[in-house]
Amino acid sequence: MPGYVDLHSHFLPGVDDGAQTLSESLAICSGLLEIGFGMVVATPHIRAAMFENTKSGLSGAYRAFLAEVAERTDMPETGLAAEYFCNDLFWRLLEEDDLLFYPVADEAESKRAHRGVRARAVLVESPYEKLPVRVEHRFFEMVVRGIHPVLAHPERYFFLHRETEPIDRMLEGGTLALLDIKALVGRHGAKSQRAAERMLDEGVYFAASSDAHHPEDVALVARGIERLESRLGEEECRQLLADNPRRILLGDLG
Ligand SMILES: [Fe+2]
Repeated sequence: MPGYVDLHSHFLPGVDDGAQTLSESLAICSGLLEIGFGMVVATPHIRAAMFENTKSGLSGAYRAFLAEVAERTDMPETGLAAEYFCNDLFWRLLEEDDLLFYPVADEAESKRAHRGVRARAVLVESPYEKLPVRVEHRFFEMVVRGIHPVLAHPERYFFLHRETEPIDRMLEGGTLALLDIKALVGRHGAKSQRAAERMLDEGVYFAASSDAHHPEDVALVARGIERLESRLGEEECRQLLADNPRRILLGDLG
């Protein structure tokens, strides 16, 4: 078991454009387990006027899901966070300290809390056409406060198809880029595939994830991992799929 950690998926049923039923949800989870993911974090969309989810609503849905799967043996470990669209709602929730951050392991929490260096991280997606105004500055301010933005699928944004330059300083400032593995097999078109390959060569990515919405996505993720391995080699692949994502769940981003 490779012990991969998936930081981006939509398996929680009936809350966004991902799994709609419990059986779809189970198929995604058991499928990801089968291809090596020992830990899968659900990251339902939170976006005003499109996916009106709340932290408490998603927490309730996740608790109900856990109760449903308690007896099953074909499940990876799971966790709950969210994928925030980067707009006014996101900034407001940040100010109100009401974001669904990535879960941090208890042990790490207690070990690091006294040193005051436990980092939190939150998954954010940008509009595809252009970066939000002042986002680089605002993300940097978050990092200074110990909150690392995790930028979802940069390879899909139109403004990054040709070059990575628009987010260079953001990445230098502590924002972490997360690859959607399916991009490597053309799931999001040729431009995203080429951008993903270029960003891999540039060393842009901190981690790689499934962004699985449907059971059929699992086969694409499996093929994507093969591509990843042949492009980067086993060790670097392991960093993106296991070591680095685990650091986020340990709050170990110092
Ligand atoms: Fe997503």
